[in-house]
This record gives sequence, C-alpha cells and structure tokens, in this order.
Amino acid sequence: MTISSNHYYYFATLTIVLLIVPSDAQLSSTFYDITCADALSTIRLNITRAVANEQRMAASLIRLHFLDCFVQGCDASILLEDESGERAAVQNANSVRGFEVVEAAKQAVEAICPGVVSCADVLAVAARDATVAAGGPSWIVNLGRRDSPLAATIDVAENDLPRGNDPLQTLITKFANKNLNQTHMVALSGAKTIGQARCVTFRDRIYNTQGLDPEFVRMRQSDCPQTGGDDNLAPLDEVTPTDFDNNYFRNLQRGRGLLESDQVLFSQQLTNSIAQEYINSADRFKLDFAAAMIRMGDIQPLTGANGLIRSTCASSNN
Ligand code: HEM
Ligand SMILES: *[C@@H]1O[C@H](CO)[C@@H](O)[C@H](O)[C@H]1NC(C)=O
Ligand SMILES: *[C@@H]1O[C@H](CO)[C@@H](O)[C@H](O)[C@H]1NC(C)=O
Repeated sequence: MTISSNHYYYFATLTIVLLIVPSDAQLSSTFYDITCADALSTIRLNITRAVANEQRMAASLIRLHFLDCFVQGCDASILLEDESGERAAVQNANSVRGFEVVEAAKQAVEAICPGVVSCADVLAVAARDATVAAGGPSWIVNLGRRDSPLAATIDVAENDLPRGNDPLQTLITKFANKNLNQTHMVALSGAKTIGQARCVTFRDRIYNTQGLDPEFVRMRQSDCPQTGGDDNLAPLDEVTPTDFDNNYFRNLQRGRGLLESDQVLFSQQLTNSIAQEYINSADRFKLDFAAAMIRMGDIQPLTGANGLIRSTCASSNN
C-alpha cells in the first residue's frame, strides 16, 4: 500500500516536472510551418532587397544577430530602445546598426500573421538571408525563440561581448562561456570578410606597427588619423569587401588583419591551424561557418511560456 502510493507520487511528480520544466533545446526549423507558413519567404524578400539597396547591410545584420545572442541569449534584447541597456555598451554604442531593416522585416511578417513570429527569430533568419545575399553559405534556421521583455544591462554586455583588443585567451574564454569552441570562434570571425570598422577600433593597431605590412599600415593610416576621425570607416577585408569569401583568412596570413582580435587568431597554433584550413578551402570555411551560426543561434533561447512575442522589435510595451 505504502509502496504503491509512493510509486504513484513519484510518477505524478515526474510527469508534472516533465510538463512544466521548459527545456532550452526546443527550437525547430518547422516551428512556423502551420502558424505562419509564409514567414520565411517574407523575411527573405525583405532582407534581400535591403542588402541590394546597401551592401554593407549584410554585414550589419549578421553582426546584430551575434551581438544579440552573446548578451542574455538570442532574445532580440539588443533591438530594444533602452538608453541604459546593452545597446549603450562600449562595444555597441555608435557602432551597431541595421535596426530599421529588422523592424521592417518584422512588420512585413506582422502584416500576414500578427503576434506569431518573434523578433529574435526574424533576426536569426535575417542573418542567414544576409549571408546568402552576400554570397555566403545557407543553412536551415532553427526557430521558436521568444523575445525578452527587457534589455540586458550595460555591465552584462560589456562583460560578455568580445573587444577588438582582447588577447586570444580572453576571446577563447568569452566564446567558451557561450558554448562555442575555437573552431566555432575562428569560423564565426570569418564574417569579417564583409563589413566595416571604425577608425577608433583599429587605431592602436595601425600606429603600433611592429610586424605589420607597411603598405597596409600606410593605406589604413590614410583614412584613420592619429587624432580625430574616430568614425571613419575601413573595410574589414580590403580585397573583396562585400563578398562572403575566405579572403579574411588570407589577410591574416599577410599580417593584414584590421583588428587586433583578427590578427591574434593567426598568432597561435591552435587557432592558426583552423584559419589555415579555411585558407586552403573556402568550402570548408563556409560549411563550418553555417554550423557555427546554427550553434550560436542556440544560445540560451527563451522558449515555451518564457518571454513574449513583441509586436514592435524596438519596444515591449505594445
Ligand atoms: C571574435 C570576437 C569579435 C570581436 C572582438 C569583434 C569586434 C568587432 C569590431 C570592433 C567591429 C567594428 C565595430 C565598429 O567599427 O564599431 C566588428 C565588426 C563586425 N563584426 Fe565583429 N567581433 C567579433 C566577433 C564577430 C562575430 C562572431 C561575428 C558574426 C558572426 C562578427 C561580425 C562582424 C561584422 C559582420 C562586422 C562589420 C559590421 C558592419 O559593417 O556593420 N564579429 N567586430
Ligand atoms: C519590407 O517590408 C516593409 C513592411 O511591409 C515594407 O514597408 C518595406 O518596404 C520592405 N522593405 C523592403 C526593402 O522590401
Ligand atoms: C568544436 O566542436 C565541433 C562540433 O560542434 C567539432 O567538430 C570541432 O572539432 C571542435 N573544435 C575544437 C577545437 O574542439
């Protein structure tokens, strides 16, 4: 009698636990197949047009997804307009862009299925479509993320996001904290085969020139003076600045990584050997990049009853 009622209690408890504990691995590529069958094609059309209008937008959208995922998980928190939130972190302020494009894609989706598709998922799909539009690989995006009601604090963002002058070990640790290993880190860094950086992010590197290619130094110094011009832009890959190819890694081999955090990848055997593989095979790079983007998209999603579906990405009071 006692034994069977204990048994009953045990099974009842187990069942309740299974029902109410949200698992964090519930994303699925078919999540909107029934509730919003045209969501993905709508986003793709919108993003493809936006990149055709402005090529740099491909880079900005890929980066936006990365910056979202690394701070508090892929929850669209970076899209919230909050002066004291993560957008104001030193890594993001005056730098992160592409918000209007994500909002327009989200509104295009809202017009066909209101309140169904999260901003976090729109951003994850936009990053994939932007990669394809720039000539990079495609992959199947896992879906079902929900949006955070609040942005992360500046402190959390500044602590979790890598910086352009972080040493290699710090970079490795920051990626490991997000469940990404060195192969993922090197592959993801290859996104810098497109896009641009502000003078303020690479000035120290080009005026502290030992070991640098002199022609590269001259070229970069010409549009990044020692004082002033903080926001002047330079391409992260000056050879093919808008093509999603493996040139980023070739640049490292020639000492022409624009950011210190780019060049350090080539400084130690562990990461150097991965970069070397990507120099030898653009296909290998593209496959690894796609796999790493899927993995990055899995960082700490809000699922089930957690979070919400924002109707406007910029704000949660709607
Ligand atoms: C390894 C650690 C990383 C560091 C230290 C880093 C740092 C930076 C910095 C300093 C810039 C220039 C920002 C500015 O000028 O304001 C930048 C740009 C960029 N980053 Fe990263 N980043 C890292 C990883 C990543 C990852 C994982 C991705 C994407 C998967 C990414 C994609 C990009 C892109 C595409 C741009 C150009 C954006 C544009 O043109 O709008 N980065 N990054
Ligand atoms: C994206 O969708 C929005 C909302 O439907 C629309 O206003 C905008 O023109 C579209 N943008 C592009 C580039 O297709
Ligand atoms: C990183 O993990 C992937 C699997 O996700 C694996 O293929 C790769 O070899 C790992 N890299 C390192 C350096 O451990």
